[in-house]
Amino acid sequence: MIPKRILAVDDVADWRAMLTGLLSEEGYHVKTAGSSSETLRLLARERFHVAVLDVRLDETDEGNTEGLDLMHRVRAVDPTMAIIILTGYPTLDMVTEARRPDETGVSPAFDFVEKDKISWDLLPGIKRALQSVVRINDDLAIRDEEGFFSKAARRLRFAETREPPNADLRQEIEELFRKLFFDCQEIDVHPVSQGYSGTAVVKVKPHYCDRGPGEAVIVKCGERSAVEREVNAYDTHVKGVVGGHRLPQKLDVARTRSLGGIIYSFAGVPFGEVRDFATLYQEESLSEVEKVIENLFRETCFPWSREECSRKKFFYLTDHYRSLLGLEQTALERAFKEMLESKQNTCFELADGIRETIRFIDQDVSLPNPVWFVGKHPLFCPTHVCTVHGDLNGWNVLVDRHGDVWLIDFGKCGEGHILQDFIALESFVKFSLVSTDNLSALYEWERGLLTCDFRASPSLVNSFGIEELDKAFATIGKIRHLAHEAIGEHDMTEYYIGLLFHALKMLTILGLPSKTSEHALISAALICERLGETQGSEFSNAQEVSTDQSS
Ligand SMILES: Nc1ncnc2c1ncn2[C@@H]1O[C@H](COP(=O)(O)OP(=O)(O)OP(=O)(O)O)[C@@H](O)[C@H]1O
Ligand SMILES: [Mg+2]
Repeated sequence: MIPKRILAVDDVADWRAMLTGLLSEEGYHVKTAGSSSETLRLLARERFHVAVLDVRLDETDEGNTEGLDLMHRVRAVDPTMAIIILTGYPTLDMVTEARRPDETGVSPAFDFVEKDKISWDLLPGIKRALQSVVRINDDLAIRDEEGFFSKAARRLRFAETREPPNADLRQEIEELFRKLFFDCQEIDVHPVSQGYSGTAVVKVKPHYCDRGPGEAVIVKCGERSAVEREVNAYDTHVKGVVGGHRLPQKLDVARTRSLGGIIYSFAGVPFGEVRDFATLYQEESLSEVEKVIENLFRETCFPWSREECSRKKFFYLTDHYRSLLGLEQTALERAFKEMLESKQNTCFELADGIRETIRFIDQDVSLPNPVWFVGKHPLFCPTHVCTVHGDLNGWNVLVDRHGDVWLIDFGKCGEGHILQDFIALESFVKFSLVSTDNLSALYEWERGLLTCDFRASPSLVNSFGIEELDKAFATIGKIRHLAHEAIGEHDMTEYYIGLLFHALKMLTILGLPSKTSEHALISAALICERLGETQGSEFSNAQEVSTDQSS
């Protein structure tokens, strides 16, 4: 059983002693504080399930209602705690404030207890709060033969809030599962293989108290703020919109102080295996891959690009892609310098020592330095914005046995550049699925991609003498053909701009094979050359254009 931790706040020492006695006798773990500042210091160190707050925190001042203010501050730290207000003299104003629902529809205080009735009313109040607000299933049997809970505690990353100490995090994860599976008797958990995002995803087989064995589900848990974003994005942009039925259902959500968890149904038709796009690409022929891409953009994602809000406006692509990819100029310049100065670098050099141009040694060509180029030219375009998935890599696209395409992982879903998902998938094919380290062939291949007109024909045959490059070329051709179709225009400048930032992002990712970074640099340099040719002097006037100007 998870020990229930209670924080009791009263400025009078005798009351604190009385509360400690009453609550510890019931088996609760109790800590007390005598003031607001002491409460907040304690909360910074420890996690509680219930807070019991006295309203008047200065006995010498009859009008003092500091406890109500503290209630809001406690909730700002941990909105998952249940709060019980203690007061000698409840007034209508007090009750109204404590019960007024916040923007999420939840009242800050769960209950009021009058101080002279503490011995009768407090314990039942706490019991009710634990049952209906905290909702931890203490009877749940958890089978975790592969050690998911300990692995998850090491895996989870906290980008926006402070990471809890490991021992407590391990318990907090378990608590999250006891909340998510409140009406279950037993769960069997099996980790799924994952990348490096800092979330923990697990397959769970539940056994319900009343209904017996249930269907397996997926649970995704992570930092509470990130999970909250995914829940909002799902509710706003995904539910009922995307690709008809090809969408995992969000079945339940639970929260603890630092974590959030979502239960999703399995993607794919019932009881069928799904493969992610990355696996399918390696296992299947080109024509199967092309069918999947068509299904993805024509069926699954299509409603987004058709939605009413799809409108044309000036879009500041530099800011958009930099913020989407977390790509700062200083980090990019640092990564470029490290590549340039690395002892292993035999690929490129600064042409005649000028940083605007780089020379690729084996190919004996000089091209614009893309790092310098994006630092100098703000890139914008009039383009359509619409809802996009926002992280369309090959692991977030799942294909069922009917060849239907399902999307998962909605944390970045929202308004964006209409071609963004096409660009992300093309970049994934280029840098995660192509494995050749023949840079000369890759150079020709990238050039081919910039000179072909995929609008006319989706399947241009182009042979580079390396089978995997031919397959990737045709796959990208298919993606670009559909991208053309989405915007209905000939000019692909905005597409190249997106590709450029994705390629540059690869330079900053630690631990990639040097061949991938070199390929990315070649790709980015060729795109800059192309953008320079098509846009010419337009770039130098770009600063003068307002970013919110609609056309
Ligand atoms: N609804 C689902 N049905 C089937 N498998 C799923 C589902 N949701 C997630 N998965 C599996 O779990 C993996 C991770 O899920 P998700 O992509 O949502 O998390 P993530 O934070 O992007 O993880 P990663 O660390 O892999 O980047 C997916 O690649 C997929 O294999
Ligand atoms: Mg993912």
